[in-house]
Amino acid sequence: MNVLGIETTCDETAAAIVSPGEDGRGLIRANEVLSQIAEHAAYGGVVPEIAARAHVEVLDRLIARALETAGMRLADLDGIAVAAGPGLIGGVLIGLVTAKTLSLVARRPLVAVNHLEAHALTARLTDGLAFPYLLLLASGGHTQLVAVKGVGEYVRLGTTIDDAIGEAFDKVAKLLGLGYPGGPEVERMAEAGDPERFALPRPMLGRREANFSLSGLKTALRIEAERIAPLAERDVADLCAGFQAAVVDVVVDRLRVALRGFGAVAGHPTALVAAGGVSANGAIRRALAAQAGQAGLAFVAPPLALCGDNGAMIAWAGLERLRLGLVDDLTAPARARWPF
Ligand code: KG4
Ligand code: ZN
Repeated sequence: MNVLGIETTCDETAAAIVSPGEDGRGLIRANEVLSQIAEHAAYGGVVPEIAARAHVEVLDRLIARALETAGMRLADLDGIAVAAGPGLIGGVLIGLVTAKTLSLVARRPLVAVNHLEAHALTARLTDGLAFPYLLLLASGGHTQLVAVKGVGEYVRLGTTIDDAIGEAFDKVAKLLGLGYPGGPEVERMAEAGDPERFALPRPMLGRREANFSLSGLKTALRIEAERIAPLAERDVADLCAGFQAAVVDVVVDRLRVALRGFGAVAGHPTALVAAGGVSANGAIRRALAAQAGQAGLAFVAPPLALCGDNGAMIAWAGLERLRLGLVDDLTAPARARWPF
């Protein structure tokens, strides 16, 4: 079974082909990703119209290259999976129309995949992980703690009531004059910084629901930055270190709450899984691994290339759905919002 996966919901254009591998894992036959970071960098964030245009320009070539890398033709595919949302609607439409066209031409089933579900199932692609597991999905647009019980069976234990974690990293980077995307820049600066120089708040600590709130932390950081402006490199490093340490504390606390609530909705988890671009952060990864260890759980985080947006995760989620007969028809809608 070979499934093509197409991803165009944000600022990465991606096409990949995945087949079932050994021990329940997936086998990635091709995984082409083209980041648009350069196109958006000057604006300090993703510009939806620029993103959509860039997807149109490269998507068909990227799909052709994925087929070539896998040594396949359209006829070798068993399904066409596409992220049909949530995301920037212009980009989602481009991926979806392309996938529908291929589905029609190749006479292969279309699978409309939820982008978040694809992040959630990546640990099964890479590690063949069994259900149920606790997922921390943290990206530029989403922050969720989810009990993953099965394909299509997700119970949300917590979410953010304002900024997503990645968004907070991006905003802090912008505020401090660092590049975009901000996460890796803030992490790099934090390495040399003193996390204790600034007393930054840990919002939501101790709350009984596993929700996040980050805008207060960002505001506190802005006030400190303005107080000591102009900022020297040392100041920026200390602010980044302080911010990252606060985020880590919040994540650990919220995770503990979610672990406590897990049993009632999904039984005993097999593992703690991190997904989404923010799980590339070393400090966050280490803290999650330590928490998992304390709870007696395995910790699974996808390799860096599969943390951010990619086509392999879409192809894999498509493959999982296809195996269960969960296919879509040509009326499948593009969705800017699509809770999962
Ligand atoms: O999953 P992703 O590639 O795209 C979506 O948002 O769906 O995540 C991108 C987000 C950005 O906000 C980026 O700043 C953040 O992940 N990110 C990081 C790191 N690398 C990427 N945040 C913190 N530390 C990092 N090393
Ligand atoms: Zn994503």
